[in-house]
Amino acid sequence: MELMFPLLAILTVGLLCILVLLLKLYRQGKWQLHHLEKLRPPPLLLQQQAEGRAYLHGLLQWEENMLPPLGGWAASADMLIVLAETMLANRPQRIVEFGSGVTTLVLLRCIELNRTGHLTSFDNDAQFAGVVERRAARLGYSHRVDVVALKDADPLGWPGRWYDHPPFQPGIDLIVIDGPPVLNHEQTRGGAESTFAALSPGGVILLDDANRWGERAIADRWRREHPGIRFDYLDVEKGLLIGHKVDAQ
Ligand SMILES: C[S@@+](CC[C@H](N)C(=O)[O-])C[C@H]1O[C@@H](n2cnc3c(N)ncnc32)[C@H](O)[C@@H]1O
Repeated sequence: MELMFPLLAILTVGLLCILVLLLKLYRQGKWQLHHLEKLRPPPLLLQQQAEGRAYLHGLLQWEENMLPPLGGWAASADMLIVLAETMLANRPQRIVEFGSGVTTLVLLRCIELNRTGHLTSFDNDAQFAGVVERRAARLGYSHRVDVVALKDADPLGWPGRWYDHPPFQPGIDLIVIDGPPVLNHEQTRGGAESTFAALSPGGVILLDDANRWGERAIADRWRREHPGIRFDYLDVEKGLLIGHKVDAQ
């Protein structure tokens, strides 16, 4: 009988500990589910993305399974629609893009549809550039992505890092900026300014992810320092800054 009391006490404490542990696990699971629910895009956005993807394939006169998944690291469907519409309407001859990927595939398809134009693509990641080249080859395009390192401190005074590309001859008709990744610095894409002098009169600049704080600061400074380029903001999923060179600078 004397032994029964401590035994019962130990048993009760043990059971209580197990109960607390189970409660904790249950709460954690519930939080994780809640968290996942928050990460999932709302139904309307999912519907818009699906419609955007279908519309884009229509514009490109492609079946719907030609492009890999859009959004995330890749450009979103609504940005790619503007990119394709710009390509098909303006029929640019010289196109330069920074940050290869789905944008590259759309640009190559538009060049094919236009039967004119030449694309130069830059990426700092050799492995990713290889993936893009293989995806382009699968679609029938033999396209080389130029792999260049990122260099520190641009001469124009932008923070972060920009592509160490060769100097450009004047006559670029379209500049597409979708890199480097923001991990380098939130204003890392400001360095694209070094290419503006080579933009043709009437040429166009597209800066993706323009609804981020870094890109907003970049847009403010570009507007101040380049009055000869009109910059408009388009409220697509990730924001798009569109620059039109209105006169020779
Ligand atoms: C915003 S992404 C460029 C996206 C590209 N224009 C597209 O539409 O697919 C910028 C850079 O991030 C790198 N990148 C692309 N996808 C990635 C991924 N899933 N994980 C890590 N880096 C990635 C590549 O070097 C790419 O040039």
